[in-house]
Amino acid sequence: MIQTMYSLENLRECIEAKLAALLPAQSAIAQPMLDAMRHAVLGGGKRMRPLFAYASCEAFGGDLEPALVSGCALEFIHSYSLIHDDLPAMDDDDIRHGQPATHIAYGEATAILAGDSLHSLAFQAIVDSTVLVDQSKLRIIQLLSDAAGWAGMSGGQCLDIAAEGRELTLHELKALHAAKTGALIRASMQIGAYSAEAEPDISRYAALSKVGDLIGLAFQIMDDVLDVTQSTEVLGKPAGSDEAQAKNTFPKLMGLDASQTEAERLLEEAIGHLHDHQLATPTMLDLTEKAVRRTY
Ligand code: IPE
Ligand code: IPE
Ligand code: MG
Ligand code: MG
Ligand code: MG
Repeated sequence: MIQTMYSLENLRECIEAKLAALLPAQSAIAQPMLDAMRHAVLGGGKRMRPLFAYASCEAFGGDLEPALVSGCALEFIHSYSLIHDDLPAMDDDDIRHGQPATHIAYGEATAILAGDSLHSLAFQAIVDSTVLVDQSKLRIIQLLSDAAGWAGMSGGQCLDIAAEGRELTLHELKALHAAKTGALIRASMQIGAYSAEAEPDISRYAALSKVGDLIGLAFQIMDDVLDVTQSTEVLGKPAGSDEAQAKNTFPKLMGLDASQTEAERLLEEAIGHLHDHQLATPTMLDLTEKAVRRTY
């Protein structure tokens, strides 16, 4: 069994420091946009994607530094997706991480551009890294672009918006969640493996990808559940936003109890795969459980 050297709290501190270091601070031409990028990224968040990248990098025998670079790239994509997700044209939410959403603090145009630049910064962080080997960089860029793009996060967001006010089948909703949220969570784990080594073991990598699918879906189911059960104060984002926007959610289609049961079932299945493939490190187990059994 691999023994971790870092607690989740240690890791979060390392991630915060690396995010701050990778974010540009000064520009002669675009200072408001840089300020907006820093507001969006450094203003809070659970850092689940960088933590998952670290957990799988560790499970594949890798070090902290490469996982941090990859994790920050994932977090830049995630932060950009949240800026755009909160815009009036999308979910129209004014609060994020208990603070004004980026478009409230900096205006819509600057917020849109901050999202655009965070998208680019993710790939710059990978390409410019001195701790990732070239072969890994190429695979990480492939995984990140697939997960963020038309068949992943932004594809899922497109269906999410298009389906407002019309009821999807459960099968369609699972596909929506798998794309808009699952793809980036799965990529976090896959990218962690490639941060450890250029050619990770095929069968452990396949198992890790399956875990990513299961936890990615469970993560968005719980996001939907918490939107109904928690307060705005606890969430740091407007509670009841899904109902207000007539979204398709698990609680709406299955009911609250069945949604929570389904998330637990997915978690148990994921934990089984971790144990079966020597991926059940303390960090990975702890994080997998926290991704599903959470209060915000
Ligand atoms: C919220 O993600 C949006 C989804 C994709 C479900 P997180 O719950 O990971 O957001 P933060 O970064 O921790 O606020
Ligand atoms: C967002 O899903 C998924 C993204 C790709 C950003 P939600 O719209 O449910 O996320 P929250 O609840 O606003 O964080
Ligand atoms: Mg949304
Ligand atoms: Mg939203
Ligand atoms: Mg939500």
